[in-house]
Amino acid sequence: MPSNDGLKLVEKDESGVDTKFRADILLGLSQAQKATPARWLYDDAGSQLFEEITRLPEYYPTRAETEILREQGGSFADMIGPGRAVVEFGSGSSVKTPLLLSAIDPAAYVPLDISGDFLRAAAADLAKQFPGLPVYPVEADFMRQVALPDAVSDMPKLGFFPGSTIGNMVARTAVDLLRNMRETLGVGAHLLIGMDLIKDTQILIAAYDDAAGVTAEFNYNLVRRINRELDGDIPLDHLQHEARWNDDNARIEMHLVAQADINFCVDGRGFAMKAGETIHTENSHKFNRRTSNMLLFAGGWEPQARWLDGEGRFSLILAEARPNRSAP
Ligand code: AVJ
Repeated sequence: MPSNDGLKLVEKDESGVDTKFRADILLGLSQAQKATPARWLYDDAGSQLFEEITRLPEYYPTRAETEILREQGGSFADMIGPGRAVVEFGSGSSVKTPLLLSAIDPAAYVPLDISGDFLRAAAADLAKQFPGLPVYPVEADFMRQVALPDAVSDMPKLGFFPGSTIGNMVARTAVDLLRNMRETLGVGAHLLIGMDLIKDTQILIAAYDDAAGVTAEFNYNLVRRINRELDGDIPLDHLQHEARWNDDNARIEMHLVAQADINFCVDGRGFAMKAGETIHTENSHKFNRRTSNMLLFAGGWEPQARWLDGEGRFSLILAEARPNRSAP
């Protein structure tokens, strides 16, 4: 069933706490390797900190992807053609989305986001910049199949998923998402997806452990949120931000490393960490041409074209949902 068919998107308990947040954090802290889903990093404060990260000198992905969108507009227009309904997975960035829309002359814009307020604000902003373009925001969990508005049902679709957000997911989750995108958009749809590239480890680590300490604050913000919303007493002064390159999994990992043996409570439950143990808070997978192709194929998408920024740091890939055929 499409995720926006009358299901409640966010459930809160009597005290106003997101029940999924509580369940995810308690489960994550109970494991031998403590690990919390990355999505909980993005409350209001976390989203603001991420905005700040995108302007850091070390954090190249946003600038590199924006450069591609700025410079390859003509190439997108040739490959994609006019008259498509652009379906963006996430509310959209005030910089990247307009660059794409002005390049390809779309027939409609459909932003999907789980957060209704943010979604409507972003949609209104965009409608103002593109006065002739119909905008149909849809409040939905885009990790699942989404029912698109009737108004766009007969238009060819272009999915847009920038930012290398796909890199936040382990392969199994990424493939589930890509397959749901295929269900949402239909056979014949195109998908323009940003995927960050494997590169020198020092450059990658610096991008996730910047000199100004903004990424560390972004990581610490999760602990503050847990302590505030789940009545926790995690001693933040005994946790240190670390960005690690995991070579086997081709990903940057963010961890919070215990600087001493610590005990703490969250939601009335007790937890312990030995010095050196970590809470794993985020993955950011990096790709090369073969691994990004493999992931897209696994998700039901055929890569058609690939563009890099001038320094070869980041890729934007255009893929197509082809009908299933028998193959060797
Ligand atoms: C929002 C998932 C694209 O992985 O690069 C940035 C998040 N985390 N710095 C990324 C993030 C730490 C970012 N994405």
